[in-house]
Amino acid sequence: MKKIIIAIDGFSSTGKSTIAKKLADNLGYIYVDTGAMYRSVALYALQNDCIVNEEVDEEKLISELDSIKIYFKYNPQLGFAEVFLNDENVESEIRTLEVSKYVSPVATISEVRKKLVEQQQEMGKDKGIVMDGRDIGTVVFPDAELKIFMTASAETRAERRYKELRDRGDSITFDEVLDNVVTRDRIDTSREDSPLVKAKDAIEFDNSKMTIDQQLNAIKELVKEKLN
Ligand code: DC
Repeated sequence: MKKIIIAIDGFSSTGKSTIAKKLADNLGYIYVDTGAMYRSVALYALQNDCIVNEEVDEEKLISELDSIKIYFKYNPQLGFAEVFLNDENVESEIRTLEVSKYVSPVATISEVRKKLVEQQQEMGKDKGIVMDGRDIGTVVFPDAELKIFMTASAETRAERRYKELRDRGDSITFDEVLDNVVTRDRIDTSREDSPLVKAKDAIEFDNSKMTIDQQLNAIKELVKEKLN
């Protein structure tokens, strides 16, 4: 059966991963959360003294890139693949506000991007994959058969993220979360290497007012068209 690559890009906390996971599950495709890979590198930096005075020590982090091993392992109970950093399951640890604070600066480093993009391209070489991130349709798989670009207002996204973090017991304020969302948008769209931009052939979804099912159904229709 024909298999395609589905690239889902967009701003932080647009619900890309929720949709991507469900879509992959529905199609029997592999789901790859590339943000989790950048977050794992940021977690490594935090755990290994590569953050000094709240700044990323780029030289030290680059010199240690070869000792950073990231991979995904499918968890049948959860129905998706969890991320491992040097053989440790870090799926939950990478979602803290602390990691969110450093992930965008870490993701501006070209050496980091090169390493992760190569790994992502390898994962998608047999197609049958749904990958979400910021540069999937522009850099990782410019020839992806289906490209989706997700947007929603910063306030809507911060509200979703705030609820998620509060639900898992993190004590943060809404303003801290909104500030992080806005700062990440700025860094992600203005960085020199692979900034977040909509690919020319991507289909844009503003999901501020769409339910998950509405989004999923709309994307499934697009997939159907591509497979026929
Ligand atoms: O999708 P996310 O919010 O978990 O991503 C975390 C950060 O990683 C995001 O602020 C930018 C970076 N990122 C990236 O630069 N390229 C990707 N393909 C995925 C994420």
